[in-house]
Amino acid sequence: MSANKSFTFKDLTIELHPEVYEPAEDTYLLADSVVVSEGNSVFEVGSGCGLIALYCASLGANVICCDVNPFAVELIKKNFLVNESLLKGSFDVRIGDLFSVLDSKNSFDVIIFNPPYLPTSKKELVGGSGWFDKAVSGGLNGLEVIERFINQVSGFLKKKWQGLFCVQ
Ligand SMILES: C[S@@+](CC[C@H](N)C(=O)[O-])C[C@H]1O[C@@H](n2cnc3c(N)ncnc32)[C@H](O)[C@@H]1O
Repeated sequence: MSANKSFTFKDLTIELHPEVYEPAEDTYLLADSVVVSEGNSVFEVGSGCGLIALYCASLGANVICCDVNPFAVELIKKNFLVNESLLKGSFDVRIGDLFSVLDSKNSFDVIIFNPPYLPTSKKELVGGSGWFDKAVSGGLNGLEVIERFINQVSGFLKKKWQGLFCVQ
């Protein structure tokens, strides 16, 4: 059995999985844009392989992240173990849809999401296991997941509308 691909980002070693979104320009744009400090609380939605969430924890943030894709959650756990010694903040990964993984009382300094945003009709879906579509397709107008995220996010930010990083 061949090993999954891996690469390095900053000092982190990140393993990939065929069913999980492979970091691309949007990932790196977002990773380079986030401003987090030691002790900040961070929630990343849709962490994929965990690159951004792990990077935030390496900067000293206390991170909770989630994904709907069970392969992503397993991969994030694996990437956490590989990089654990480099993390200065705490790290917790959960499976589920958007903010459903949180307690309604949770609030964060920073919330991050690189959402599925491509406008996609049903016939344009790739199909297969469906996890690739889940990672990139934002429905017909590209906004299906983004709108649900935007409608809930302010309730989980400590300072309203500060510290929100979302590619679109
Ligand atoms: C564009 S990929 C970004 C992955 C990673 N954050 C990155 O930047 O490389 C979007 C990710 O969001 C996840 N996702 C899609 N809809 C979601 C939802 N409703 N709740 C949680 N995660 C979701 C997908 O499984 C996928 O891993």
